[in-house]
Amino acid sequence: MAMNTTRAVETSETIRDDVGMAWRIKASFVKYIAGMNDGAVRILPGSSVTPNGEYYFTLEHYDFDSETLTGVVKFRGGVEFSGHFGMLNLSLTDPWISFREGTALISAVTGAGERVEFCAVAAAAPLIDGDVLMWRDIPTFLTSVGEPLFNNVYRGNEPFAPLTVRIPA
Ligand code: HEM
Repeated sequence: MAMNTTRAVETSETIRDDVGMAWRIKASFVKYIAGMNDGAVRILPGSSVTPNGEYYFTLEHYDFDSETLTGVVKFRGGVEFSGHFGMLNLSLTDPWISFREGTALISAVTGAGERVEFCAVAAAAPLIDGDVLMWRDIPTFLTSVGEPLFNNVYRGNEPFAPLTVRIPA
C-alpha cells in the first residue's frame, strides 16, 4: 500500500528526539579541524552532538512517499567549522534530503547563503523500526558541486560519513 506522509513538525510538543538526522559529515575533515590550534566546530541551534560524535539535526518537515521512494525531508540546525585564522570557515545549515528515483541528494545552506546539493546518498529503501522509517549508516559521497566547499581538496565521489535518518512512518 502506498504510504504518503506530508507533515510539518511545528510546535515544541511535536518535537520527537527519536527522529532526525545524524551525520559526522566527513570524519577526516572533523579530525583536520580538531588538529588546528584555532580549529573550532560550532553547533548551531537545532543541532547537537550524539554520544558517538555525529552531528544531529532536528526533523522539521517531511514529505516522503515510501512506495516510490521520492520526496523531501527537511531538518533544522547547523554546524560551522573554522580554522586557519579565519581563512577556513564552512557552515552547513538546515540540511534537506531530496529523494529522487534511485538516488538522494543532501543539500545545506552554506555561509554564502545559498543551498548547495553537496552530497549524494546511496539511498536504499528504509527499514521500519516501530513507527519510524529509518535509513541507517547509508554511504554518502561528495558531489562535484560540493568540491569548492572543501577547497577542492576532495573530488566528486569522495566518500563522506555514513548517514542515519529517522522520520515518522
Ligand atoms: C590558510 C589556508 C589553508 C592552509 C594553510 C591549509 C593547509 C592544509 C594542510 C597542510 C592540509 C593537510 C593536513 C593533513 O593532512 O593533516 C590540509 C587539508 C585539508 N584542507 Fe586545508 N588549508 C587551508 C585552507 C583550507 C580551506 C579554506 C578549506 C576549506 C574547507 C580547507 C580544506 C581542507 C580539507 C578538506 C583537507 C583534507 C582533510 C582530510 O580529510 O584529511 N583547507 N589543508
